[in-house]
Amino acid sequence: MIKKLTKNDFDLYYSIYFDERINPFLMFDKTAKNKFKKDYLKTLKIANLYGFFIKGKLVGVVGFRIGKGRSSHTAYIAPLAVLPEYQKKGIATKLMKFVEKKCKAKGIKKLWLDVVKTAKPAYRLYKKLGYKKEGTQKAQVKIHGKYLDCILMAKFLR
Ligand SMILES: CC(C)(COP(=O)(O)OP(=O)(O)OC[C@H]1O[C@@H](n2cnc3c(N)ncnc32)[C@H](O)[C@@H]1OP(=O)(O)O)[C@@H](O)C(=O)NCCC(=O)NCCS
Repeated sequence: MIKKLTKNDFDLYYSIYFDERINPFLMFDKTAKNKFKKDYLKTLKIANLYGFFIKGKLVGVVGFRIGKGRSSHTAYIAPLAVLPEYQKKGIATKLMKFVEKKCKAKGIKKLWLDVVKTAKPAYRLYKKLGYKKEGTQKAQVKIHGKYLDCILMAKFLR
């Protein structure tokens, strides 16, 4: 079941985000819980965070943010993560399709995201869902001391 996240979901969100099998593919290095909570609460206000729940347990998350002004026909998707024990069961696909449906209903024309080049499963997932590569952002992120490229991808909604 997919539900909008609230402040009560923070602890589980934190444990997914900083799971060491997931975090190397996301945007933030390990951050103290109280500091990350402030960012989480801010994100709840300015973005749309949803969770995939199984028997009340949060096992996957997705977020999207609608662009402003002349980019208000676009939405940026991040983060996307599924707990390793629940991967390869179609949960990320369901979360991405959910975002697509929501965005379509809001009149959004273009979804975009960036994926660090080491995130092979995510890249395959996006390609499978019809996202196309738009370019490479050289040395866009520094993860565990290494500068890594990100691939920009997008999908046009019709
Ligand atoms: C990427 C991620 C969200 C996929 O979650 P998931 O629920 O396992 O994905 P799904 O089961 O919906 O998989 C759909 C497709 O994605 C691709 N995929 C998913 N996991 C894969 C893996 N381990 N290896 C290769 N391809 C994979 C496949 O194309 C798969 O289709 P298939 O099952 O027909 O082969 C998950 O692996 C994850 O949380 N990774 C760490 C965080 C991350 O990389 N987030 C993305 C940041 S941009």
